Amino acid sequence: MTTTADSTGLGAIQSGAARVDVADKRMINSRADVNQLLPLKYRWAWEKYLAGCNNHWMPTEVAMQADIALWKSRDGLTEDERLMLKRNLGFFATAESLVANNVVLAVYRHLTNPECRQYLLRQAFEEAVHTHTFQYICESLGLDEGELFNMYREVPSITEKDAWALEYTRNLEDPDFATGTPEADQAFLRDLVAFYVVFEGMWFYTGFAQILSLGRRNKMVGIAEQYQYILRDESIHLNFGIDVINQIKIENPHLWTQEFQDEVRAMLTDACALEVAYGRETMPRGILGLNSELCEQYMRFITDRRAEQIGLAPIFGQAENPFPWMSEMMDLKKEKNFFETRVIEYQTGGGLDWD
Ligand SMILES: [Fe+2]
Ligand SMILES: [Fe+2]
Repeated sequence: MTTTADSTGLGAIQSGAARVDVADKRMINSRADVNQLLPLKYRWAWEKYLAGCNNHWMPTEVAMQADIALWKSRDGLTEDERLMLKRNLGFFATAESLVANNVVLAVYRHLTNPECRQYLLRQAFEEAVHTHTFQYICESLGLDEGELFNMYREVPSITEKDAWALEYTRNLEDPDFATGTPEADQAFLRDLVAFYVVFEGMWFYTGFAQILSLGRRNKMVGIAEQYQYILRDESIHLNFGIDVINQIKIENPHLWTQEFQDEVRAMLTDACALEVAYGRETMPRGILGLNSELCEQYMRFITDRRAEQIGLAPIFGQAENPFPWMSEMMDLKKEKNFFETRVIEYQTGGGLDWD
């Protein structure tokens, strides 16, 4: 059992115990005190925490007037665009909470390193900001909140994705679950793959492409701007998850067996198929510049990239990215715009009230 005082950080204080030696720090199953951030071992985790803090934003700082006018106008959006938008928002509206719950209730407990936990605390807050974004969009556009927040129970392709991922987190949430055996450590790795590589690293990307494609055509520009900020946050979440997985592999090479690698490849293959089905259900007829065939190609490209990032051979051999503009969107150089938006927001009322 490793879910003891040592790994939670909540046990009795060991007065007079030897001081933490950086060499004793481990990603999982650590014996070093998890309440002592310093001395730092994993500088990459600390740097991601700082990068997350530097990217701070709030959804309410983005003006929504143009989106509201377009959404309410009779012919501003086609019926296909409206369906895509609603199902896109419906997926994210609860996906952000599922990811947050996995971070807080499953990953945090078993990742026994304080600098990684420091990052997880920042990530958890960012997931709250993302859920806030969907609340804010729902309220701004006057969408049916019951419809939006129930899509993960009512739209089959969304249900299937979420159910697939929830199976992995359920193992870890079990109060009797503890890392420390090869089987349990592999179960933890599976959860990291399911949430960081698949959920945040693959399944968010069809949604990002859909909204940013609308934004490129000057439609729903406020939501598109919010999605750019979410994408910027998520790319750090993904890279953190990849670094965590790779560091656990380095420290525990016995877990990364050929059999386990095959299993992870099968997970990525299944996840890609689930995402392709979601693309079809959100865009049954396609919209201008985007359709489910292109999204399938894109997802194969992304799946191969993710496989490589965790040291596996490509699965599909999809070398060409059908949405090269997505990489520009990821190099967010929007600080200027962001600043201008903030200034306008603060001038038109803002939230300060001294009375
Ligand atoms: Fe998120
Ligand atoms: Fe995330």
